[in-house]
Amino acid sequence: MTKIAKTQHNLLWNQKKYIEQAQKLLHQYNFEAFKNVRDAFDNYNDATSETSDFINLHYEIDFQISLFQLEKGESFSHHDHPSMSGITNVISGELQIKNYNLVSQLNKSRKVILQGEKKTIRKCTIQEVSDKILAPNSFSSLTTTKRNIHSVISNDFTQLVDIFTPAYNSATRPINYNVDESGFYQNKKGLFVAEYEDFTLID
Ligand SMILES: [Fe+2]
Repeated sequence: MTKIAKTQHNLLWNQKKYIEQAQKLLHQYNFEAFKNVRDAFDNYNDATSETSDFINLHYEIDFQISLFQLEKGESFSHHDHPSMSGITNVISGELQIKNYNLVSQLNKSRKVILQGEKKTIRKCTIQEVSDKILAPNSFSSLTTTKRNIHSVISNDFTQLVDIFTPAYNSATRPINYNVDESGFYQNKKGLFVAEYEDFTLID
């Protein structure tokens, strides 16, 4: 992984190829055989009820590998992965994962006060581009420009491994989206309006 993750620094990085290579490598790993994974499985006690439990299995600047354990019904609501590519590999259980592309920014914003601070809330449109059920040994991926926003819910107790390239850093702070799923924007199938906090603006 260390070697192929360095390709992200190439001027013309072929992300599609990188994801294919990384998936191939992941396929060869038997994660349950790694001591830190076995320990995490053995010591699991749903420490954070209602949210997933996670540990970092490996961290280096170019990529990071994390293990998540989700009780049935635990979820991650819509969020993105700025400037990152990612692969989710289910080890056990079942996961529903929906991916979206950011389509456009809408020229609407509003100011709110959240926890005593002024915030700017912006609107955009996002297009649902995939809706998958992941069984063990199946993958979902996203790139810096495609499928970069996703939402996840476990249909059963689920253990999964994520690989993100590069590792999380100050430039990869995720944006959470509040998606209006009551109807399609301009009646276009799968196109939704979403709101998000613009934290690039500091009042
Ligand atoms: Fe994510």
